[in-house]
Amino acid sequence: MRKAMAEAEVGDDVFSEDPTVLKLEEEVAALLGKEAALYTPSGCMANQLALAIHSIEGDEVIVEADSHIFNYETTAASFLSRVQLNPVKARDRGILSTEEIKPAIREKAYYMPVTRLIALENTHNRAGGTVYPLERVKEISIFAHLNGILMHLDGARLWNACAYSGKSPKDYAQNFDTVSVCFSKGLGAPVGSAITGSQENIAKARRYRKIWGGGMRQAGIIAAGALFALRNNRERLVEDHIKARRFAEIIHESSKNARIDLDRVQTNIVLLQFETPLDATLARLKDAGVLLSAGANGLARAITHLDVTMQDCEQAAMTIVKLFG
Ligand SMILES: Cc1ncc(COP(=O)(O)O)c(C=O)c1O
Repeated sequence: MRKAMAEAEVGDDVFSEDPTVLKLEEEVAALLGKEAALYTPSGCMANQLALAIHSIEGDEVIVEADSHIFNYETTAASFLSRVQLNPVKARDRGILSTEEIKPAIREKAYYMPVTRLIALENTHNRAGGTVYPLERVKEISIFAHLNGILMHLDGARLWNACAYSGKSPKDYAQNFDTVSVCFSKGLGAPVGSAITGSQENIAKARRYRKIWGGGMRQAGIIAAGALFALRNNRERLVEDHIKARRFAEIIHESSKNARIDLDRVQTNIVLLQFETPLDATLARLKDAGVLLSAGANGLARAITHLDVTMQDCEQAAMTIVKLFG
């Protein structure tokens, strides 16, 4: 990847003249079966571009209560697009159903917000990397479009959802007006995400990206890392899922004080509930060489990725069992 980045052909992407960025955008759009794509510095920007292009000020966007857009994008929806988020809590580990969404749709009245967009997250980060069944996505999408509501997918980890379900990125993407994806995270590129959709929507997104200061010049250097990741690192994601499962199973079998809901361990995220206070627990683990972060709702969060081996995962799990019993 570093070699590809060092050798990248570049141009000025503000003038759409960077051949490597253009290639990345073309490949990711084709992979998702969309007309066009736009390279962005981050997943947050890709999601926020979707909100900006789909809505007008004062609109409402339905999201899951534990979604990234609602919890981790620093009120950007109200800040940048002046829309309101309507968080709906999913009963099934972050995975919404049409029945749960229906009551959140606003009646049409001048004094009510307009429900403009539903944004789903697949895999669902705070729920522990859980995957939407394709049928569920289709059902929500049909319901939304019949009601004149647009659909966006926060697909930061769509690649993991595909590796788990055996479905293609296109299978999921065809149910959405826009899809954002990340080349960082599990794919291992240092920078960048993309938003994909129709030519018209991506032209609008390009304008907002510039307004928000995200127009980049010789971005081919980082896009080359993303392109390398897209081409080479998707198939190996199943390995990360196997490592996460093994890590979780060792702890589940041998620990009384670190609890794991094994049904949630579908992809590369493992959520752990410790008896001891979270901050002190994470600090103790760090001292012992195991890096977990604070996840949602007081849980600790472990991630497997291309830089940790199966042996690392087994050792980390055994350290947790040894330290906490
Ligand atoms: C589900 C989800 N969406 C979006 C993002 C945002 O990505 P970035 O950190 O590149 O802004 C993240 C980051 O963790 C995420 O987990």
